[in-house]
Amino acid sequence: MIALRGAELLALLTSLPVCDRDAWVDELLGIESLPPDVPDLPRGSVPYLPCGVEEILALVREVPVRAEDTFVDLGSGLGRVVILAHLLSGATALGVEIQDPLVRSAQERSAALGLTGVGFVCANAAEIALDGSIFFLYAPFNGAMLTAVLGRIAEVARRRPIIVCAVDLELHDASWLQRREPARASSLVVYDSVKGISERSPSADRGSP
Ligand SMILES: C[S@@+](CC[C@H](N)C(=O)[O-])C[C@H]1O[C@@H](n2cnc3c(N)ncnc32)[C@H](O)[C@@H]1O
Repeated sequence: MIALRGAELLALLTSLPVCDRDAWVDELLGIESLPPDVPDLPRGSVPYLPCGVEEILALVREVPVRAEDTFVDLGSGLGRVVILAHLLSGATALGVEIQDPLVRSAQERSAALGLTGVGFVCANAAEIALDGSIFFLYAPFNGAMLTAVLGRIAEVARRRPIIVCAVDLELHDASWLQRREPARASSLVVYDSVKGISERSPSADRGSP
């Protein structure tokens, strides 16, 4: 059970030297060595590599992620982003991951930590209906698969204002997204869905899931 959350966890994390933060978070969450990828990843899928804690901190602070958000990591791996974003913000957090061993490991980890408000599903993100208020992508796919997933996210943006966050990934083909100025200290890029694709302004309260 993790008692350390929210502002207290953020303060402790930011008090650590930047070079120690990834290892500290992995120890806190019980994440050990990188597992091997399954051999049959479909074309366009990028293998597992965890996003740096710096980008996750930038995400939570700059978006900002709030307790009333539903945060979705598309290509969630072992769950580092989902679990840390949840602990820091209180948001309901969901991971969608195509590799079943990674999903099972993330589920076991969140259960061992006694987390509620966190979930992981095994699915191809290009093939399922999505919902949420904030979507996160750490370079999980490219080519036609990325185009298909952006189409799924656009379906959500027609129903509600959303935010899409990308690390090491350019979202060139999404005219329905408006890019914010990137923060100087991280490779995170934040996009708001534009007015017109949904009825409400992106700056309005994103509301509950
Ligand atoms: C670069 S890793 C990012 C992992 C995680 N977001 C993190 O930062 O810790 C990309 C992940 O996307 C997953 N992935 C690739 N294609 C996918 C798809 N079509 N649907 C769901 N997950 C996918 C991979 O298995 C891999 O775990």
